[in-house]
Amino acid sequence: MARSEERFVCQNCGSAYSRWQGRCDDCGEWNSLVAEAAPAALPKGLKAGRGRAIEFSGLDAAPAEEPRLAVGMPELDRVLGGGLVPGSAILIGGDPGIGKSTLVLQAAAKLGSRGIDCAYISGEEAVAQIALRARRLGLSQPKLRLAAANSLRDILAGLEKSGRPDVLVIDSIQTMYVDNIDSAPGTVSQVRASVQELIRLAKSRDVALFLVGHVTKDGQIAGPRVVEHMVDTVLYFEGERGHQFRILRSVKNRFGATDEIGVFAMTDGGLAEVANPSALFLGNRGGNVPGAAVFAGMEGSRPLLVEIQALVAPSSLGTPRRAVVGWDGGRLAMVMAVLEARCGLAFGGNDVYLNVAGGLRINEPAADLAVAAALVSSLTDQPLPEETVVFGEISLAGEVRPVARMEARLREAAKLGFRHAIVPQGAGRAPDGLRLSAFDRLAALLALFPGTGGN
Ligand code: TYD
Ligand code: MG
Repeated sequence: MARSEERFVCQNCGSAYSRWQGRCDDCGEWNSLVAEAAPAALPKGLKAGRGRAIEFSGLDAAPAEEPRLAVGMPELDRVLGGGLVPGSAILIGGDPGIGKSTLVLQAAAKLGSRGIDCAYISGEEAVAQIALRARRLGLSQPKLRLAAANSLRDILAGLEKSGRPDVLVIDSIQTMYVDNIDSAPGTVSQVRASVQELIRLAKSRDVALFLVGHVTKDGQIAGPRVVEHMVDTVLYFEGERGHQFRILRSVKNRFGATDEIGVFAMTDGGLAEVANPSALFLGNRGGNVPGAAVFAGMEGSRPLLVEIQALVAPSSLGTPRRAVVGWDGGRLAMVMAVLEARCGLAFGGNDVYLNVAGGLRINEPAADLAVAAALVSSLTDQPLPEETVVFGEISLAGEVRPVARMEARLREAAKLGFRHAIVPQGAGRAPDGLRLSAFDRLAALLALFPGTGGN
């Protein structure tokens, strides 16, 4: 066997170096290199002669639908694409304290209450602590197997002895280690090896596997990207600390759509599912104030109404401030530039603040028109017409472009009692009770705000 040498592996991106350096050349992270034992080199020159020939088959070999194990939490099941697939691995990442352990514990208890055999293994908390938390959450499932362990060898032995579970939860993958690798838990090679072992178990014994993963300070799941490639599903649990909303977002799913979200609220009794997020995000909206516009957005297959708030105020600074929460700063700069160049508005000496209410993060360009409406409303100090929703993409030329799923957005707005929608041309037929104002140019928006010289 080749002598295993030491190498230095970036804990942020997984790049390996032969000597230590302060900064990773690949990802630019400082002080992220840690010494790890290099894996023994693979023998060169594989000959096909001695292999066992694999069999090929046609597309019809696959069963029509994978069997699904519904968790019984509709928000989670939807993000998973309809439930757990036995033999698959799901990685859940998120900031510390966001509620990952609470989510997986609740899911395990829910499964347990339906007679599904779950094992929950924590590398971070003692069994008594988990049991205490479960009691506080009002969960007490005799069917749930709890353990506190870090050694994968011990965990595999324990599962061997007490029987294979249907669902295995590992909280968290960064605290697990395999004892035939010489580096600390949480390092790239340990994380990779532990995930490999667990996936091997899951695939060979048809166990559905939940892995909790820590994230780095810029929000990636810690450890090598390769872990994300190894698992079948990657979910991120997000939310603003100060808000109670938590959003479970699927970024990779071999068994379902990737743009689905599940909405939860963190309460004293754990995570509560939010079946109607629009009502929640608009829940404590005040009256019609200048600078507020309700955006009819889509999150995955589901329409979601949120309030976008803008504040345009005279600046006392030489370089006015632009601050954005929940949206893209570059996109805000673009919408403001189009409003200045095509509509003759001037934001010049003003600070501009933009906020998506409720701690939600919006990625859709369809929010452009709602942002523009909120900005103009604040700049002119005039509220938008009452009971109005807005959506549409803005081009650099100042046109308002149609966006995807316009009818679903309008239906959701009508369902929640809105009476007026500002939309791109070609938005289709309005549902009953909803009046449409369709624009093809951004300049036409100004007509809603008398005194801005709009046409
Ligand atoms: P936790 O699931 O431990 O987070 P993670 O595993 O992602 O680090 O959640 C911890 C936070 O959730 C903690 O700050 C308190 C809060 N919390 C509640 O508000 N209500 C509850 O019922 C529970 C269990 C936790
Ligand atoms: Mg935790």
